[in-house]
Amino acid sequence: MNMADYLERIGTGLILSNHDVFNFDFVPPNLVGRNEAQRKIASLFSGIENHSKSCRAVITGPVGSGKTALIKTFCRDITRHLHDIREIRTIHVNCRTANTASSIVQRIVQSLDPGHPDRGLGMGEMLTSIRRLIRRQQAHLILTLDEVDHLLRRSGDDLLYKLLRIDEDQNETGTLSLILISQEQILDFLETAVISRIGGSHHMRLQGYGYDGLFEIVKQRAELGLKNGSFSHSTLQLIAEAAEPSGDARQVIEILEGAAKCAEGEGRTHLNDADVQRTASNIPSQSHEPQLESLPLHACLMLIGICRRLKKEESVTSGEIEKLYHVVCEEFEEKPKGYTTLWKYTKKASDSGIIFTRTDHIGEGRGRTQHITIPHMLPKDLEEKILRIINKLKRK
Ligand SMILES: Nc1ncnc2c1ncn2[C@@H]1O[C@H](COP(=O)(O)OP(=O)(O)O)[C@@H](O)[C@H]1O
Ligand SMILES: [Mg+2]
Repeated sequence: MNMADYLERIGTGLILSNHDVFNFDFVPPNLVGRNEAQRKIASLFSGIENHSKSCRAVITGPVGSGKTALIKTFCRDITRHLHDIREIRTIHVNCRTANTASSIVQRIVQSLDPGHPDRGLGMGEMLTSIRRLIRRQQAHLILTLDEVDHLLRRSGDDLLYKLLRIDEDQNETGTLSLILISQEQILDFLETAVISRIGGSHHMRLQGYGYDGLFEIVKQRAELGLKNGSFSHSTLQLIAEAAEPSGDARQVIEILEGAAKCAEGEGRTHLNDADVQRTASNIPSQSHEPQLESLPLHACLMLIGICRRLKKEESVTSGEIEKLYHVVCEEFEEKPKGYTTLWKYTKKASDSGIIFTRTDHIGEGRGRTQHITIPHMLPKDLEEKILRIINKLKRK
């Protein structure tokens, strides 16, 4: 096979007509099946057309329940809706990538005023700059802090208070509205002061999607991204079924794209069920309980070490795992297993979606560092679950 042959099918577009709609940050033209949630967020922002008014909302729900999509479409729609009435600026910060108070504040300043000389400014000055920039533009800022648990874990809730009080001492109101988004467990962090400050009635909980919601979502995505006539109703149903246990909208979209590529790879112009099944079987399940139950004792001990570190840090490197594991072994009076076994357990935990492994390449040929995170659960919750399993295993 020569070069041209094996690349032949790239970009032929037998089925996929628009790759963008499968992008991770694509915002759909409209949300399907979330009328009630849309009404609720609109009601939390009622009065926002008023120049002295600020609003606040907390959105929680499981992965793929459409939290980000709900808020991004809301921000886009409200900006248009109020076009002639109030100048709305919206900024969406994902706290997974900007997870300290100062990096978040820097993002906000840069986005309000690209090229703003923010180097060396302290927190207070940055916040003053933000206030000033918004007021100078005679605008109102709707700031979304998405995956805010990363900020809370790393820097605490101080920034949230400062943002909520941005107009205090200025004899002004209506500079900034705040939307916080997180997975359900955020409540552990927020329960105390922040929630009461924001007000429990401003809290919206989204549920994971059921079969019908998933079907509507995959249908919309297929219509936006695939060629007419390249898919059938029943194939979309199969995709919704495959994702139903997770309730995760991301899964139907991933399966749809994967299946389309699979069919294209075989030179077909139509998706079939086997494309879906093959793709779906490669998607790690989101339900962690059963997989936890089948973990061997020492995999559990290793995970405990990882959890404990991740309660304090964003990620842990593969090199640190062994040390952490040894400490836990000592505590449980177990003789540590060797490096190879440990490596096997890391791989297993990562394959079953309990931990997430990201590889960083440092320089040319200088080896690779793996960063391990737990994306779907709070380390604290996972640790508790695993401790229970360890107790069970040790009793046997
Ligand atoms: N109601 C919906 N209508 C259309 N697309 C949706 C809907 N809910 C979620 N999606 C899509 O599903 C994917 C996952 O949703 P997302 O908002 O990222 O979930 P979360 O932020 O809760 O993890 C995104 O691609 C999003 O555009
Ligand atoms: Mg999200």
